Amino acid sequence: MVATRNRGKLTEFRRLLRDHPWTLIGLDDAGFAGDVAEPGPGYEENALAKALEVCRVTGLPALGDDSGIEVEALRGWPGPHSSRWLGNAASDADRLRGLLDEVERRSPGDRRVRYVAVLALARPDAEPVVAHGTCDGVLVEPRGDGGFGYDPSFLSTDLGRTFGEVAPEEKDTVSHRARAVARLAESGVLAGIPEWARNPGG
Ligand code: IMP
Repeated sequence: MVATRNRGKLTEFRRLLRDHPWTLIGLDDAGFAGDVAEPGPGYEENALAKALEVCRVTGLPALGDDSGIEVEALRGWPGPHSSRWLGNAASDADRLRGLLDEVERRSPGDRRVRYVAVLALARPDAEPVVAHGTCDGVLVEPRGDGGFGYDPSFLSTDLGRTFGEVAPEEKDTVSHRARAVARLAESGVLAGIPEWARNPGG
């Protein structure tokens, strides 16, 4: 299962792992009521905490994702705080506008950004495995309404268009999350998931 309530992330994981023979469910689908603490300070601690806690409570293999956007000129801010830096009441749209305003105010001449994703896979029967992925871009006024979060303003250096403009499958060819999933697959840990744990409730 995926230790997230973020529907955008869950949708991406379903696409990225569709060739693997298991059903992916999110925290809400699993009836997981609790909050999963993010101890920080980094992505890795947060991804591991999410995966280990959900694996412990559900007894299922759990994938934790901690990700964020980093502004090069602002020494990587907001980074691991990307979902919370504007407070808990803010929407994705508020955070996107807020980030554009901050960059315009603090580093108008340098809009280079990077997405970072760190994944942790925790299994009841094995040690957890961590994988990283990044992708580079430039922050621009929003274009397109695809993707989620900061995607409409993330002009991908690889694709020359924003993640809001491209088809989901195109984002998957270069995204930080896709690259981290590829690293995880290379480690062999995904192939090792036992049969009984592949289709919870199904
Ligand atoms: P997390 O749930 O604490 O990992 O928060 C990740 C934050 O980074 C959220 O605000 C997301 O909107 C943002 N983020 C991470 N990956 C992406 C992405 O692929 N597209 C858009 N925003 C992302």
